[in-house]
Amino acid sequence: MKGIVLAGGTGSRLFPLTKITNKHLLPIYDKPMIYYPIQTLVDAGIENIMVVTGGKNSGDFLRLLANGKGFGLKHIDYTYQEGEGGIAEALNLAEHFADGEEICVVLGDNIIERSIRGAVDAFRAQGGGARILLKEVSDAERFGVAELAGDKIVGIEEKPLRPKSHYAVTGIYMYDATVFDKIRTLVPSKRGELEITDVNNAYIHEGAMSFSFLDGWWTDAGTFDSLLRAANLVSQTLHQNSTEKHDIETTAV
Ligand code: G1P
Repeated sequence: MKGIVLAGGTGSRLFPLTKITNKHLLPIYDKPMIYYPIQTLVDAGIENIMVVTGGKNSGDFLRLLANGKGFGLKHIDYTYQEGEGGIAEALNLAEHFADGEEICVVLGDNIIERSIRGAVDAFRAQGGGARILLKEVSDAERFGVAELAGDKIVGIEEKPLRPKSHYAVTGIYMYDATVFDKIRTLVPSKRGELEITDVNNAYIHEGAMSFSFLDGWWTDAGTFDSLLRAANLVSQTLHQNSTEKHDIETTAV
C-alpha cells in the first residue's frame, strides 16, 4: 500500500499566519505540522509516500523533509497542486504515483494520538473498496458527518447545519485504484472544490465503503482554535508518556 499526504491549499482560515508560509509548515508544539501525518503513515507500516504540496513555499517541504531519513524512509515523492481545487483534486495528482495500488490518504492537518495500523490491516484484508476512520465529536457540523444504520454507513454530509450523528469523518481515507475513476466524475461543490465527501459517497452507493472507529484523540489544525488544541494535545501526550516512562524506570530500579 502507498501513502499520500495532502498538504496543498492556501490555509486561508489561518491568515496572517499563512501569509508567508504554508499551513503545513507551522509548528504543532515541537514539530512542523507535516511531520505528524507522515509519522501516521510510517507507524502504519507504509514506507512509499507522496506529499502533495502547493502554495508559495512548496520548496520548503523538500528542504525540511528531504528524502525522509528522519522518518526511516529511503525516499519521499512530491507533487504540486496549483490553486485551491479541493482535497479530491489534490488526490488526483497522485494517480501516477499510486500506479494501480491501494492507497492510504492522510490530510496534512490531521493529528492523531494512536496508530491506525489495525484499520490499515483491516483494509488490506477486505479486498478492495474503501475504508474511512470515524471519530465521535461534539462539533460534528465542522466536518464530514457519517450517517450510520446498524453497522453500515449509509451516507456522508459535508459540514451539515444539523448533523445526523456525532461521527465525524476524519481526514484518513483508504481507497482501491477505482478512486481515480470516481474523482474524474466529480463536479465542483458550492465552494468551488472537488470534495472528498463526494468520492466517499460514490463508494457508499456502490456498497464498497467500510469504516473503523479511530482510537485515541484526533484533531484537525486548520483554524486558530484547532491549531492551539493540536499543540496542547501533543504537549499533554508527550508529558504524560515521559511521566509514565519515568515511573516505569524508577519502579525498575
Ligand atoms: C475536510 C473534509 C471533511 C473532513 C475534514 C477532516 O474538511 O472535507 O469531510 O471531516 O477535512 O479534517 P476541511 O476542514 O478541509 O474543510
